[in-house]
Amino acid sequence: MTNRILQQIGALGIVPVIEIEDAKQAVDLAAALKEGGLPVMEITLRTEAGLAAISAIAEAFPDFLLGAGSLLTPAQVTEVAARGAKFGVSPGHSQLLLDAAAQAQLPFIPGAVTPSEVISALEAGCTTVKFFPAEAFGGTRTIKSLAAPFATAGIKIMPTGGVTLSNLKDYLAIPEVLAVGGSWIATREQIRNSNFAQISYAAREAVSLVSSLSK
Ligand code: 3PG
Repeated sequence: MTNRILQQIGALGIVPVIEIEDAKQAVDLAAALKEGGLPVMEITLRTEAGLAAISAIAEAFPDFLLGAGSLLTPAQVTEVAARGAKFGVSPGHSQLLLDAAAQAQLPFIPGAVTPSEVISALEAGCTTVKFFPAEAFGGTRTIKSLAAPFATAGIKIMPTGGVTLSNLKDYLAIPEVLAVGGSWIATREQIRNSNFAQISYAAREAVSLVSSLSK
């Protein structure tokens, strides 16, 4: 799926993965990321506040590249699309999830870590897949081998899980890597403690590292 939203994610190169416990902090969090030059995030539904946080940010910042992650059920896919998420992410995928994303017209990044999983994502028109948990599945070495047979299919990969400022460069050096995702820019604890200045700083630091790389 060549999609404007996915292109914008690729241009930024990094997607902060968010676990938010209090939806009242959502707008400040989005503002901190914007301030750091990273107007993008994937709010995971790992916390109950995730859904309300999506609604709050969609309303406050209509241009924010707002994604919903850890989508495990078709109902969640439908719900986040209705609340204004611009893209959806899942650690894996099933036909039901893929169908729900297509139905909701939600750009969708399904999880895929094996060639067969990449093939089933491609069959549904999803050419960008999430490779999770990236470090545990062999990191850059596995991604290079996995991507090789899909060269002509235009596959793009978003590794997350163990990606940090220290290995970001190695992931982004792989041509098939669209962007990396990770929680290090805005950790659950930083958000809980309203450490928004630290979050802006981490975003800015990551953005400047990405812009120093010739992608
Ligand atoms: C995700 O869902 O993408 C990961 O949990 C992020 O992994 P990290 O916490 O290791 O960055």
